[in-house]
Amino acid sequence: MKRLIKGGTLVDEVKSYQSDLLIENGLITRIAINIHPEPDMDLIDASGLLVMPGGIDVHTHFNIDVGLVRSCDDFASGTRAAACGGTTTIVDHMGFGPAGCSLHHQLEVYHDYAAGKAVIDYSFHGVIQHVNDSILEEMQSMVEKEGISSFKLYLTYQYKLDDGAVLRALRRLNQVGALATVHPENDAAITQRRAEFLAQGMTAPLYHALSRPLECEAEAIARMINLAKLAGDCPLYIVHLSNGLGLDYIRLAKASGQPVWTETCPQYLLLDEQYYLREDALKFILSPPLRPKGEQDKLWVGIGEGSVDVVATDHCTFPYQQKVALGKQDFSRCPNGLPGVENRMTLLFSEGVMSGRISPSRFVDLTSAKPAHLFGLWPQKGCLRPGSDADLVLFNPDLSDVIRYENMHDNAGYSPYEGYICKGGPVMTLSRGEVIAQYGKFIGQAGRGQFIYRQSFHHAEKEAQHEPS
Ligand code: URP
Ligand code: ZN
Ligand code: ZN
Ligand code: ZN
Repeated sequence: MKRLIKGGTLVDEVKSYQSDLLIENGLITRIAINIHPEPDMDLIDASGLLVMPGGIDVHTHFNIDVGLVRSCDDFASGTRAAACGGTTTIVDHMGFGPAGCSLHHQLEVYHDYAAGKAVIDYSFHGVIQHVNDSILEEMQSMVEKEGISSFKLYLTYQYKLDDGAVLRALRRLNQVGALATVHPENDAAITQRRAEFLAQGMTAPLYHALSRPLECEAEAIARMINLAKLAGDCPLYIVHLSNGLGLDYIRLAKASGQPVWTETCPQYLLLDEQYYLREDALKFILSPPLRPKGEQDKLWVGIGEGSVDVVATDHCTFPYQQKVALGKQDFSRCPNGLPGVENRMTLLFSEGVMSGRISPSRFVDLTSAKPAHLFGLWPQKGCLRPGSDADLVLFNPDLSDVIRYENMHDNAGYSPYEGYICKGGPVMTLSRGEVIAQYGKFIGQAGRGQFIYRQSFHHAEKEAQHEPS
């Protein structure tokens, strides 16, 4: 099967240029200025369009069991929505398993969740819910045999790790060539503040945000950076950064040469704490919470200067009715998480590229190339070169559209970005050369997505040294 994308502007993580692109058997096989169409080629006219690597969203929670309830997007609806928004790979953060369960147990559970359902290619981040000798032992085969080269540590929630456990985990992850990812929030401070608010009857959604202020997050970021240093410079990736103080600590670490990276999400760039005063405030309950408005500009500065490395979504959906049923009397009972997997590319393109804050190449780096490098997917994914998977998104910069949930493809039942006017948007998504979404319509098939064995971080690092991004 051959497919020729003709007349478009190719955008990779360093440059934009006019070129045609040939796809054969799911791979990019040729990039050249004027490829002659042959009768056996399916021709796609890309004039006026940007041809970019498909998005890689390295932070989703599909089908996650959070204790009382389960998120309402599984690997079918979640990846369908992703595809419609121009994303062609996701790396999902596994949820906690039963107490004491092994890393391999949880991996099996997730393989079962995704197989036969995923529409686009996928992988998982391991989750370290406790630390002991056998968990540390398992890490090696997770990386070397199972292709799981990143793991998540939580400093809050049910299976938070104490600093000793974190240190042990980081040393071992460093040894086996894995990237440590962390949800950084100071659990003790949050628990104390939350108890104080609830004791005074302060149960409204705004107190969710006030119980976990940005200092709780920033403190935990600084602590993790120092623990990673103590672990012999374990590579560290801070997820869902929401504030400028945390970013300052990350800048300091980066400036000293420490291997530290961070991701932010559209909600922290575009939404703010005022949303907790709305009538439908529970829709916006997530952790870390939305921040005071001034924090958004600080994150945009980080995006512009390169201290923020990745934009992902943390897509974790619960129907609004469920959030209301559980959280109406008490914010602390509301399940945490927001939708976003379908809107990430469009929102960042509109607010980033079209508003002049970032270049198209920087957009590609944030949404695709950089996550591919960090998470061991490069150059199979995130890369516009012969030999790479033909995972592509075609963007029309002249499109103007309003976000309406009724046009979307996830199961959340609402969008936090309802009514947002977006300039530019995806018109076609290809996964391994197959068109799976076109003009906002899903035309792919559940189960066609493949599990991707990711390379170890050591390998990814070597790649990064001889290649840009
Ligand atoms: O509130 C959130 N973000 N829920 C998803 C789990 C997490 O903390 O990333
Ligand atoms: Zn988190
Ligand atoms: Zn998350
Ligand atoms: Zn290379």
